[in-house]
Amino acid sequence: MSHHIDEIKANGKSVGFVPTMGALHNGHLSLVNKGLDQNDIVVVSIFVNPTQFDNQEDLVKYPRTLDADVTLLKTVSDTTIIVYAPTVEDIYGNNILSQSFTFEGLEHEMEGAFRDGHFDGVGTIVKRLLEIVKPDYAYFGEKDFQQLQIIKKLVELHHIPVKIIGCAIHRAEDGLAMSSRNARLTEVHRNIAPFIYRTLNSANEKFGTKSAQNVTEWVEKQFKRQPLLELEYFIIADTTTLKPVKRKSTKKTYRAFVAVYAGDIRLIDNIALN
Ligand code: PAJ
Repeated sequence: MSHHIDEIKANGKSVGFVPTMGALHNGHLSLVNKGLDQNDIVVVSIFVNPTQFDNQEDLVKYPRTLDADVTLLKTVSDTTIIVYAPTVEDIYGNNILSQSFTFEGLEHEMEGAFRDGHFDGVGTIVKRLLEIVKPDYAYFGEKDFQQLQIIKKLVELHHIPVKIIGCAIHRAEDGLAMSSRNARLTEVHRNIAPFIYRTLNSANEKFGTKSAQNVTEWVEKQFKRQPLLELEYFIIADTTTLKPVKRKSTKKTYRAFVAVYAGDIRLIDNIALN
């Protein structure tokens, strides 16, 4: 892969990169399309990274659909997309371990607090992939907003020569943020799941006039009334530091972040507030 990229670059072509864990959907494709707008070639990596899963069952059940993924990518472009699908051994040898990272505190908030070791796993794989692919631009979704901020910090702290581009959340028509895990929802849970984005939108409206604590309590109440969805956290945080807001300031921007269990499936979403 690395040699192939060197050749492409020697021919003066620019390389965009979209790292994924596969089971591709239109959310992923929106990143690929943005990459194709800005680069000659886009590399899409498909690799279910074992070190970022804190839950073994989630890792085992994570959908793996490489043939369908390749077919889907071919409908986007047959000539300018390179799929890189390494094996676990290619990446980790026989030592499936994470490096440990600090990201100036970003790693302790939200997903970092609820998923032990998750961002060490993400940092390890993304750093490795960036070393292999050496892209000019790499694309990450705001769907995983904390991950996006952490990757920006990773490349800054480790002086990795790539520009990180954040991409808007792609949603199903009913508002549910697209995710590879959505395919594993039961019909009942899939039908109720748009409740998450509806509640985020209402929280956004309320945040105009109410305190963060007020909005948080309101959201928690809505989820208590919804027995099919179990709220893990709802947090309003500073967009840059990801620290929970204490007192609203007009000089800062905030986002609301949510993690919810729909049966066994853990869903996350977020929304810009001001
Ligand atoms: P994965 O969940 O497959 O997501 C790959 C990329 O697609 C991430 O940048 C994610 O934020 C983005 N994405 C997923 N759903 C999206 C949506 N509905 N709208 C916009 N972007 C969306 O995130 C990972 O994989 C992994 O952690 C990875 C970065 C590949 C490291 O293993």
